[in-house]
Amino acid sequence: MIDFRSDTFTKPTPPMLQAMMTAEVGDDVFGEDPSVNELEALSAEMFEMEAAIFCPTGTMTNQIGIKCHTRPGDEVICEHLSHVYIYEGGGIAFNSGAQVKAIDGDRGRITAKQVSAAINAEDVHKPRTSLVCLENTGNRGGGSIYELTEIQRIKEVCLSNNLKLHLDGARLFNALVANNETPKQYGEIFDSISICLSKGLGTPIGSVLLGTKDFIKQARRIRKVFGGGMRQAGFMAAAGIYALEHNIERLAEDHIHAKKIAEALLKKDFVGKMLPVETNIIIFEVLEEYYTAKALAEEFLNAGIKIMAISPTQIRMVLHLDINEELVNETITFIQQL
Ligand SMILES: Cc1ncc(COP(=O)(O)O)c(C=O)c1O
Repeated sequence: MIDFRSDTFTKPTPPMLQAMMTAEVGDDVFGEDPSVNELEALSAEMFEMEAAIFCPTGTMTNQIGIKCHTRPGDEVICEHLSHVYIYEGGGIAFNSGAQVKAIDGDRGRITAKQVSAAINAEDVHKPRTSLVCLENTGNRGGGSIYELTEIQRIKEVCLSNNLKLHLDGARLFNALVANNETPKQYGEIFDSISICLSKGLGTPIGSVLLGTKDFIKQARRIRKVFGGGMRQAGFMAAAGIYALEHNIERLAEDHIHAKKIAEALLKKDFVGKMLPVETNIIIFEVLEEYYTAKALAEEFLNAGIKIMAISPTQIRMVLHLDINEELVNETITFIQQL
């Protein structure tokens, strides 16, 4: 099986497993797991942010970030296809008692102008706008990348309106590799950043939340309340350290593979509009006179290739560590004969 459904399907490679099995561990709730402490220090250093906290999932790092930045009754500004809004089980309302002002942006991205227009005036009738959440790369935007200059403009709007700025950077490293940018450039802008180790970087578990020392101190309290205080989590943190040290640059290969497959797809009559392929995600429309998205996914499945129907007419394919050039070529040969 070649699995294009998500970059979360990767399995640890032998050297990553070796790093996990030989990890030094302790009780992380007591702050005594050396591998977790090393991963947190390494991440904070990469982004030149003050502190970091290791969590089991990207949903948890996002939700802790939102909880720390808001009070019940507040309003959070984000794009209407944001993971924090549509894929985290209503967590903003459930965990923080806050509500969302969802902006219709461009492939998951919003502009400083849109943020500015979405801020509520100081008025007892209105919820207090307190936080802006961005997502880079944008998952439902087809792996879309923000321009750093637009993010800087959004930051200026946040500063002049006393708003915090959080980044859902589940796939931030894909954006950094594609745009030749550095973690530090993001660390100096955002109040908090969530990065996932379990997507393109290939670990089985784990995300990291970054921010100031005070923010992370508060995040540690919330992580405990959310049930995310883990004990010998160093086995997982060791996978994260391995991933940060070995699996970032190779994301560029996934981007090349995604473009190659997209080119092959675009030659087929059954493929309609495709979102620009900027990183490792391909999202395209299937023309109904040929297939429904579900029927096309079944056709692929019969050939041992898993792809995902994300709506009745849309397919998503995601490239990752476990799909090498040979498997990409095999997939292209299959597409050509469809
Ligand atoms: C953009 C984005 N943010 C956050 C998450 C949440 O990560 P997790 O599945 O680890 O909770 C995902 C997962 O797919 C994602 O795509």
